[in-house]
Order: sequence, then C-alpha cells, then structure tokens
Amino acid sequence: MRVVQGLIRVALVVLLASPGSAVAEDFPSHQITMVVPFSAGGPTDAMARIMSERMRVTLGQSFVIENVTGAGGSLGVGRVVRAAPDGYTVSIGHLGTHVANGAVYKLGYDLVTDLAPVVLLPSNPMVIVSRNNIPAKTLPELLAWLKAKPTPPIAGTAGAGSGSHIAGLYFESVTGIKLEFVPYRGTAPAMNDLVAGQIDLMIDQTSNSIAQVRAGTIRAYAVTDAKRVDSASDIPTTDEAGLPGFHMTLWSGLWVPKDTPGEIVARLNAAAVEAMGDPVVRQKFEQLGLEMPDQNQLSPEALGAWQKSEIAKWWPMLKAADIKMD
Ligand code: MLT
Repeated sequence: MRVVQGLIRVALVVLLASPGSAVAEDFPSHQITMVVPFSAGGPTDAMARIMSERMRVTLGQSFVIENVTGAGGSLGVGRVVRAAPDGYTVSIGHLGTHVANGAVYKLGYDLVTDLAPVVLLPSNPMVIVSRNNIPAKTLPELLAWLKAKPTPPIAGTAGAGSGSHIAGLYFESVTGIKLEFVPYRGTAPAMNDLVAGQIDLMIDQTSNSIAQVRAGTIRAYAVTDAKRVDSASDIPTTDEAGLPGFHMTLWSGLWVPKDTPGEIVARLNAAAVEAMGDPVVRQKFEQLGLEMPDQNQLSPEALGAWQKSEIAKWWPMLKAADIKMD
C-alpha cells in the first residue's frame, strides 16, 4: 500500500512539477482544506477562519476548515505532511506546532524538510490570566499566591509543545514556580475551564483571552512584551508589572506539503498577503490584539528563514526541560 502511495505521490510531483503544468495553472479548481491542529473556537481556529474567508475572494474557491487535534497540534500537522503536494491541503500553525513540537515529540516527519512555507501570519504576545476568584489583583500578588499554594497551581495548556505550554515552561523558568499542566485539545476548551474556575491560570495568547478579560470573566495581569497591546492597553507589560524581560510573542504561519509547485505556493502566498492588506481583516486582527507581520517578512522564504532561526533559539531550552508527554 505504502509503495502504491509513494508511486502516486511521485507521479503527482512529476505531473505538478512540469513547468506551467495544467494543474498548477488552473489552481485552485476546487475547494481547499485548511487544517487547524487545535479545537474550534480557539485562537488558531479564529485566525484560520478570518484568513481563509478573505483568501476565498482572491482565489475564487472556498476553504473548508478541518480541526485535527491532539498531541500539541502535531497530529494536525502530520495530516498535511501526508497530503498530496497540490495546494489543496494547507497547514496553519505557529511557534508551537512548527518549532517546539520538533523538540518535544518523535514526530515521524521533519518540520523544515517535509513542509513548504507559504507565509508568515500575525503574531501576539501571551497574557498571564487567572480565574477570577484568586485573591490577587496585581502580578506580584498573583506570584505570591502561586508560591504560597500548598499544591502546584493548575495551568491549562493546549498540550505538550503548544504555545500555551512552552509559555508555561518559560514562566516556570523565570518565576521558579512549579506548575501542574493540564492538557486540552486547544486553548478554547481550556478557557472554558478557567472561566468556570476549574483551573487556576493560563499563559495564553492575547487573542484568545482578550474577549473574556473584557467580559470580566477572567483576570489579566500582564502581557509578555515590552509594549502594551493597543486594543488592550489597560493590561500592563511584564516589565511594568514586575517580571522584567519575560517576553514571548507567538507568531503563526501557513505551510503546504513539500514538493508543492512554486506557482501554487506563490498563488497561496499572494492571496494571504492580499488578505492581510485588507483593512477589514486588519481591523479584526488588531481587535484581537494581533500584530501584522512586516512587509519584508511576507515571502515564503522569509517564513522559512524565520522558522529555522526560531528552531535554533527554542530547541535548546525545550530539549533541556524534562517535558512530560500528555
Ligand atoms: C489554540 O488554537 O488552541 C492555540 O493555538 C493552542 C496553543 O498553542 O496554545
């Protein structure tokens, strides 16, 4: 069976790779699947829906969002690695799924050589949030309460290697506070439990927490950046709040299977860049506390280079941390 799949893939690659191949030329001729490696309703899912809805306009074909969850997002990425290199299966992911997971899991695929980068997407700082009924209003009060707690504070994550998990590991390393990580299939279900007071805290993407913070259903202490978030300027930075230098920005991106023809990657890239240039899309992202990538970072090569530099930066810390699998 594997041999047949391999032969089909080779035949496809040859067919697709032939210059000006009909397949590449009339891409897309049918619906495209964007695989979200986390639960519906979470930050990655929200970004996928905003991007794909606007990319549909440029590409003339609709997208279907497929949430393939589990193992810190590595199952969803694997689904795309195994897909045909024809542009019809796109992976959305981020620092966790396309960098950290390579140091956390035996993936069975290579994050750099088995995927082709398409475009860097918006990014956002993390935010330290807790359930409302913790007797703390400021970050120093929260840290004191967490330190004094007789049992390890319970922190929700989207699984080992996810953005919220590596942010939690980083928080442990800068505060010396040992956390008990509870894995969910995304930060959307984790947020439900934080609002319900079932877990104590999250180091979450601002874009996922901002609505609950505004609704007053959870409490925010600081964003992990040197500057405040424009659409949530009442939340101090970690520098201002008493944890100087605890900075982490979670960036996202789009990838396709390796061997996808350059013309198809270029078409997907152009549609994504056009989407991020659309004022309606920009406003939606900015409302969520997301920052657009710089103009000079929008080529597929720029994402490839950035991913490699982040791998070099994060893998040593992650490999040194004794990470417990879910
Ligand atoms: C999600 O969409 O649930 C998040 O991106 C998960 C995470 O990495 O924290």
